[in-house]
Amino acid sequence: MKLMILKGTKEVGAKAAELVINEIKKKPDLVLGLAAGGTMIPFYQSLIRLWKNKKVDFSHVSTFNIDEYVGLSGSDKRSFRYFMQKHFFSRIGVWQRNVHFLDGRAINLNVECKNYEKNIKEVGGIDLQILGIGRNGHIGFNEPGSSFKSRTREVLLSEITLRDNARFFGNDLKKVPRRALTMGIGAILEARKIILLASDKKKAEIVHRALHGEVSKDVPASVLQKHKDVTFIFDKEAASELD
Ligand code: GLP
Repeated sequence: MKLMILKGTKEVGAKAAELVINEIKKKPDLVLGLAAGGTMIPFYQSLIRLWKNKKVDFSHVSTFNIDEYVGLSGSDKRSFRYFMQKHFFSRIGVWQRNVHFLDGRAINLNVECKNYEKNIKEVGGIDLQILGIGRNGHIGFNEPGSSFKSRTREVLLSEITLRDNARFFGNDLKKVPRRALTMGIGAILEARKIILLASDKKKAEIVHRALHGEVSKDVPASVLQKHKDVTFIFDKEAASELD
């Protein structure tokens, strides 16, 4: 396990972007797992900057986003697909055919999840998975209690996640979808390399529990202690409760 503690959220994003482009240099057709969320915005901004400066070529990279709300289409401003378009993909042009999302409006969500994993296998599995962390320790939308063997599936969101994400739904809790699709923990652990980003004081307690607490289903991110190639990148505030 590698741990990097940097000044602020911008530095966290810049460091993660640097690690990603190093991997793309080694393997131009890298299979990259991506996540949405506030923590990721500076990371995508750094990647866009590097792309504009011709430091990276994404044209052979494939991406798979880790989660999506059930019931929202990609054109819905609150979907993760829209988030990714807005903050990243629309800014770097080309290569949309290599970009993959779970479709929260699929008629058969089970089939959608199975096909997603099949598509990942077909391109050789995820080389590098980028993760954020929820205040309850979720990774993707794998809420506390999720099996470490769980596969990509439909899940029910916990109260804390609904409250945290209400900010994207006009602060109206009733508007936040209760259900989501997420890559399972078992699927995430198959990534060859994992980088987890966290910033802000509000993540400090869960970051401490994830890294130094017991490996337990109560804190899904704690399972990463068992992964052979994981890098945690935190800002000072998120790392402030680490021993
Ligand atoms: C969201 C997403 C995760 C994300 C996490 C942290 O709900 N399901 O994929 O990593 O929670 O989000 P944020 O960076 O906004 O705190």
